[in-house]
Amino acid sequence: SGASRPRVTFLGTGYLGATYAICYAELGYEVLGYDVDADKIAKLNAGEVPIHEPGLDELLRRNLAAGRLRFSTDIAETAEHGDVHFICVGTPQRADGMGADLSYVEASVTSLAQHLTRKALIVGKSTVPVGTAEWVEQLVGKHSPADLGVEVAWSPEFLQEGFAVDDVLRPNRIVVGVKSEWANGMLYAAHKGLFDLAATEDREVPMVVTDFATAELVKVAANAFLATKISFINAMAEVCEAAGGDVTQLARAIGYDPRIGNRFLQAGLGFGGACLPKDIRAFQARAQELGAGEALRFLHEVDLINLRRRTRVLHLAAELLGRRSGPAGPDLSGTRIAVLGATFKPNTDDVRDAPALAVAALLHKAGADVHVHDPQGMENARRAVPELTYEPGINEAVADADLVCVLTEWAEFRNADPSLLGDLVAGRRVIDARNCLDSALWTQAGWEYRGLGRP
Ligand code: UGA
Repeated sequence: SGASRPRVTFLGTGYLGATYAICYAELGYEVLGYDVDADKIAKLNAGEVPIHEPGLDELLRRNLAAGRLRFSTDIAETAEHGDVHFICVGTPQRADGMGADLSYVEASVTSLAQHLTRKALIVGKSTVPVGTAEWVEQLVGKHSPADLGVEVAWSPEFLQEGFAVDDVLRPNRIVVGVKSEWANGMLYAAHKGLFDLAATEDREVPMVVTDFATAELVKVAANAFLATKISFINAMAEVCEAAGGDVTQLARAIGYDPRIGNRFLQAGLGFGGACLPKDIRAFQARAQELGAGEALRFLHEVDLINLRRRTRVLHLAAELLGRRSGPAGPDLSGTRIAVLGATFKPNTDDVRDAPALAVAALLHKAGADVHVHDPQGMENARRAVPELTYEPGINEAVADADLVCVLTEWAEFRNADPSLLGDLVAGRRVIDARNCLDSALWTQAGWEYRGLGRP
């Protein structure tokens, strides 16, 4: 072992750690994935990916078979395996709803440090409040044998669910926060496989080498920017709704300016998932602690704009169904509503903080009989919101519906035939909350069509 081809471990085999462990084995590294969850570890060792991520299953099986990849619940074995240990555990939202819960980071770093028997580099990858790397360094100093000189670095990741394999293997940048030349060299070696792959594909991967605080901030700054871009276009949608404009055309028109860019300008039900909503809240909380709260006050507005889209769909549903809103909101009792989509975006089974599922729950709370279908998220959705009715297909979901709400832009929904669906429903009314349907086609088929931010 050593700086030429370091042996690597990934602590935490959730979404992030599992994907990284598997992709690093694919790059040729000798990898060990660690988790306290014995069930997850058993599944991974049996070739089963615990999440839905395109391409990951095949890579897992191939690399298990090649003997470059194994998973363990044994921290001593993990400590022994690695020259570089990547911390990939979750940092969920704290019970108070704002800051990040660092207890998994603390537990994994502490037990790893206690079991180290040679010099190693511990690299944080989890999304954390700025200042965490310094704290981790102190933890490591306290719990690892003093003579080993174990070091810490920080390297945030930027993977998107649904594209995670490609985002790991072909990142658009590597960011590392380091304090020593040795750590810098180890990290270069731990990324060499990625640089080599890029070279064979005639690409370059820029590497930004910086301090701890900047490396930590890059991650939350990037997510805050993306969230702000989405809320910006959704704010424009609100204005379009008031003024009679069309936000989809507006987005297209401003997006041609390369300084603005056309990506992440899709107006609709807004952002959800395990990252953006939680990250902008934790970022505000941390800035407040640092005395820089004012600088991020706008993120509170970003959050509010985002959440307002959900109630907008509820009120649009009431309007289409001819229901009045009382002081407690609209009364939808006696109506049947088909909800198409439960996941926070297409091509994932993830329903964490999913706007679609939140709207389905709002409609249900307003008294509607809600029938949900999602191509991948049914199991997770049923666990998260058991009081809804889940249907095995689109046709079953829309049967006898007074209103159809498309809340996640799965291809299956975009490509559905409005004439055929029209024969199944009780009333041809559709809310296209992701502006993903061909409105002309649906209108021609006799549907009363409503998008968000469109006349
Ligand atoms: C996000 C970031 O895009 C990743 O770069 C980052 O690494 C990741 O969080 C993370 O912190 O781990 P992800 O949560 O997978 O990735 O989802 P996105 O593709 O960013 O979508 C987030 C939400 O925004 C979805 O609910 C999506 O429907 C919504 N969205 C996205 C819009 O409403 N409009 C858009 O134009 C784009």
